[in-house]
Amino acid sequence: MGYKVAVVGATGAVGREMLTTLAERNFPVDEVVALASGRSAGGQISFGEKKTLTVQDLAKYDFSTTDIALFSAGGDVSKEYAPKAGAAGCIVIDNSSAFRMDPDVPLVVPEVNPDALARYGRKNIIANPNCSTAQLVVALKPLHDAFGIKRVVVSTYQSVSGAGKDGMDELFNQTRAVYVNDPITRENFTKQIAFNVIPHIDVFMDDGFTKEEWKMSVETKKILDPDIDVVATCVRVPVFIGHSEAVFIETKKPIDEHSARAAMKDFPGLLIVDHRADEGYVSPIECAGEDAVYVSRIRKDPTVKNGLVFWCVSDNLRKGAALNAVQIAELLVARHLKKAA
Ligand code: A2P
Repeated sequence: MGYKVAVVGATGAVGREMLTTLAERNFPVDEVVALASGRSAGGQISFGEKKTLTVQDLAKYDFSTTDIALFSAGGDVSKEYAPKAGAAGCIVIDNSSAFRMDPDVPLVVPEVNPDALARYGRKNIIANPNCSTAQLVVALKPLHDAFGIKRVVVSTYQSVSGAGKDGMDELFNQTRAVYVNDPITRENFTKQIAFNVIPHIDVFMDDGFTKEEWKMSVETKKILDPDIDVVATCVRVPVFIGHSEAVFIETKKPIDEHSARAAMKDFPGLLIVDHRADEGYVSPIECAGEDAVYVSRIRKDPTVKNGLVFWCVSDNLRKGAALNAVQIAELLVARHLKKAA
């Protein structure tokens, strides 16, 4: 016996990936429901290789017979509909930032803090972290366990799919416009993204950081350890899929590349590809469509007492969003929702 699962935002970049991931991982479903705005209702969307779903209007949907809903339709939609779904008895796994810092909502990366999930029943909402945070904490967890991380300095190189399908279209259209000498139009990004990089993701806050940078700090604290300080610079780059990060850490115990590799080697979801040769590292184009968080370019930081530097890449639509959400659903089913066979 399986579960009735709804995907909210099923026509979006992450929503489609959620459907693909549910199918690929054989999540035990009896029924899958694709939900989006009224604009898309009645359209068809594929689920796995053989099935097609008819998109339904979220505004008209009754969640009371749905076991689990994966939400990825933006913060405003989550704020309005996730509490309603939760109150109707459906467990929401929310990819937006709407509830991440709510003390009654667990923020979960299954490899890192699976036990936090136990508190899901307070609101029937579980939050999925920001895409940049998800891959970062997977890389940091084994290092924190072994060496005690005090401080993290991270610069991100984030792909346009983090801004949804409209962001991907904007990169495509601007790139084409440059080649055919058409005027460049901007809608989703604050500057031209084709052939450019933009050090601005989400809104500015009073202290000069952007909200994306703030999220990386507070979410890492909530998931991993409140005593870890994180300072981030988040940058949008003209890459379709895959977020990259240059990560500098300072630890309590001495650390070098050999002990760091040994600590990270068998950690679930983490793969080290680090050959110090041409092609001996992972770039975002190679991680698109993959589940792992890849770590390359591991080296000791000679400028601080106990420091390490590395490069970290992952598919932001998968580990950064859809995969992590489905892994949370798997954990939920395994630990809390076992149905009678
Ligand atoms: P729709 O395609 O009907 O607009 P992305 O993150 O790739 O931009 O996708 C956003 C997703 O959120 C889409 O599936 C979109 O559906 C959905 N969405 C946006 N606004 C709403 C809304 N008000 N109600 C339901 N779904 C929404």
